[in-house]
Amino acid sequence: MRIEWDKEQAEKDGFDHYMLKEIYEQPRALQSTMTGRIDEAGEHILLSDLKLTPEDVRGIDKIYIVACGTAYHAGLIGKHVIESLAHIPVEIDVASEFRYRRPLFKGKTLTIVVSQSGETADTLAALREAKRHGSAVLAITNVVGSSIAREADHLLTTNAGPEIAVASTKAYTSQLVAFYLLGLYLAEGRETVSSQERAALIADLRKLPEQVEAILAHAEEIHAFARSIQDEGHLFFIGRGLDYAVALEGSLKLKEISYIHSEAYAAGELKHGTLALIEEGTRVIALSTQEQLHEKMVSNITEVKARGAVVLGIALEDNVELHRSVDEVCLIPSTHSLLTPILSVIPLQLIAYYTSVALGNDVDRPRNLAKSVTVE
Ligand code: G6P
Repeated sequence: MRIEWDKEQAEKDGFDHYMLKEIYEQPRALQSTMTGRIDEAGEHILLSDLKLTPEDVRGIDKIYIVACGTAYHAGLIGKHVIESLAHIPVEIDVASEFRYRRPLFKGKTLTIVVSQSGETADTLAALREAKRHGSAVLAITNVVGSSIAREADHLLTTNAGPEIAVASTKAYTSQLVAFYLLGLYLAEGRETVSSQERAALIADLRKLPEQVEAILAHAEEIHAFARSIQDEGHLFFIGRGLDYAVALEGSLKLKEISYIHSEAYAAGELKHGTLALIEEGTRVIALSTQEQLHEKMVSNITEVKARGAVVLGIALEDNVELHRSVDEVCLIPSTHSLLTPILSVIPLQLIAYYTSVALGNDVDRPRNLAKSVTVE
């Protein structure tokens, strides 16, 4: 008897695709990003891998975040987190834009580059550009020996394990964890968050792996929704604040592997143009996880529904009002308002995955795309 040994099949660990395996690896990946970086009492963040002195932390005047693709979307959340926790102004750029404009490096600027592979050509060039201007560079990357890791002054590894599928999933959520750790660390050094607030946020951060697990246990419900969009020509993702940043990532995921055109829109901007595209039956995915923005989101949802949209809401489990205003709802567990992106992106990753499978696409190797873009 001859047993066929398929190496790739073995590496997929029983999953049909690397992407699905990596989606399911997220609880473990998030845990790994946190391991060794929170003290036992859950009160302090330990980032001894960074070489920032307390004076450095207190002296930062401005931060640039620079990245491409999904890593850029993680940076959008990072900006929000650092500004809210550490009260440092943050500007964010896609690397291919940053390189060719004239960023102003005034005062003490820290440049944070985010890259799963650590090899993306534009991000590496942006890192060099920042260093040329005398900025310290902190890299958030998944690959320890990569060019970006080697050239940065400070390194925060995500430790998510290898990511094979072109569409990034576990790298994104672990980059978010890295930003939460960094935000809390900077906040402690600058005394911008009370110790009680910090401990509460850390407690919620630690719960994320099991909450992601809980969402994944209901993947079947999301499968059903994916079936309903597979024949759509286009689709919209809407949200406000952090939800808008997650909407951008959800839309990118869907485009990358299903080839369905989608657009992410800041919900409050719809009325300035995009609302004209909503007609009878248009599918809209509406994210609403930010309590202070619930009411505004309900009115945006009402606006699109009045034009005939069919709306799937991604909402916190206790947001009853939102449940009533949408056609279908996907619930995520409650957490601190800054942490919701890690939970709300999971259904969006699954929607993209199931849609791609239903359409018979090559999920792990989508057309025209590469895992790591080392050319400019
Ligand atoms: C490529 C990949 C994306 C990724 C981007 C940045 O376009 O297809 O999934 O987000 O590069 O990659 P990096 O390795 O720098 O995070």
